[in-house]
Amino acid sequence: MSNETDNMRWLDHCHFLKIHKGRLIFWDYRAHSQFEIELEHLKRLIEFSNGSVPAPTSIDRAIQEAGVLIDQNVEPKWGWDWLSHIFHFGTCHPSPPEIGDVDELALKYSQSYIDFCKSLAFTEPVVEVLKGGKVIQLPPPDMSELTTASLWSTLVQRRTCRDFDGSSVLLEEVSNLLFATFGDQKSSDPTIPEGVNTYGFRRTSPVAGGLQSTEPYLWAINVAGLAPGIYHYLSMRHQIETINAGSTEHPIGTYLCNQHWANDMAFAVVMTCRFDKMWWKYPHSRAYRPMLMEIGHLSQTLNLCITALGLYPWLTGYFHDKELAALIACAPEIEHPMIVVGAGHGTGSSLSRQDRELLKK
Ligand SMILES: Cc1cc2nc3c(=O)[nH]c(=O)nc-3n(C[C@H](O)[C@H](O)[C@H](O)COP(=O)(O)O)c2cc1C
Repeated sequence: MSNETDNMRWLDHCHFLKIHKGRLIFWDYRAHSQFEIELEHLKRLIEFSNGSVPAPTSIDRAIQEAGVLIDQNVEPKWGWDWLSHIFHFGTCHPSPPEIGDVDELALKYSQSYIDFCKSLAFTEPVVEVLKGGKVIQLPPPDMSELTTASLWSTLVQRRTCRDFDGSSVLLEEVSNLLFATFGDQKSSDPTIPEGVNTYGFRRTSPVAGGLQSTEPYLWAINVAGLAPGIYHYLSMRHQIETINAGSTEHPIGTYLCNQHWANDMAFAVVMTCRFDKMWWKYPHSRAYRPMLMEIGHLSQTLNLCITALGLYPWLTGYFHDKELAALIACAPEIEHPMIVVGAGHGTGSSLSRQDRELLKK
């Protein structure tokens, strides 16, 4: 015999509410479903969040059919707050794999990808954004040192340094690093059939969707041959354009949440993500994941190249977003800094001088 507790249902935890243009939207982020609801639905949803028995009403039937009720109230196991839960589960694939004849599925996949690319072809975002600053030609890239560096030695020598000595690096070195990491390698794929248009350009690192959504900004602190300031690296031309000439109001470490050792680096590269490129090709928020992974690949390439040139690298994803974005003049809500990789000479210590002094006591 069933009792009331057996018939009790709870609201699934994977949801949030959004009020938009006078409408109330219930978002089931695990299933990737959205429902416009009325206050009567909301009242019942609140009751279901505490456990309730569905009644034979149109409201309760609609809630049940939406698949947002569960039989047992189990709190999700999650170490962060809800924001990351929403992002993580909201960007997991909502459906199981498609099973069938492998050759047929391969053909179907190719056809749908080609159709998809064709559907995007006439709305492509601009590949290269020029900020309008004074353009400076960089020294021609000289890849001789990077050509002879051993990959394995470079990998094992790379270490994150937090003790720089403030000395300068040469503009030629910075130019080589920018080219090696972000420069257009101008190498096309000879196997692509004639007449097929491709988008953008190629770098030495893999990039999400072939879009090159990462933009590099050089923060010259002590570069011999270049005035201190912030510059935008024009990847397809191997030039820089001036964004912010001269010293900034505060040293770089201030913008990087007072990670003060950064002030003694010779230069840094602030890498941004161009959201407009990513959401053009991939409108679902899942694209935020590969966008960050792309920038991680580029960061590692830069870290390795810095090491191969005999300098020490440091990196951070921790900074005052609004202020750093304003400094490099990136278009609000379309482009945003995600990681900063800097370099210079120093002891190579993973601890700052201040850390070491305090630890001695
Ligand atoms: C995505 C990412 C973000 C990082 N953020 C910081 C940071 O904010 N500050 C910092 O000092 N180091 C940061 N690091 C460096 C790590 O602390 C460092 O890589 C780690 O301690 C291992 O040391 P190693 O790089 O010498 O092998 C970051 C590394 C990565 C990959």
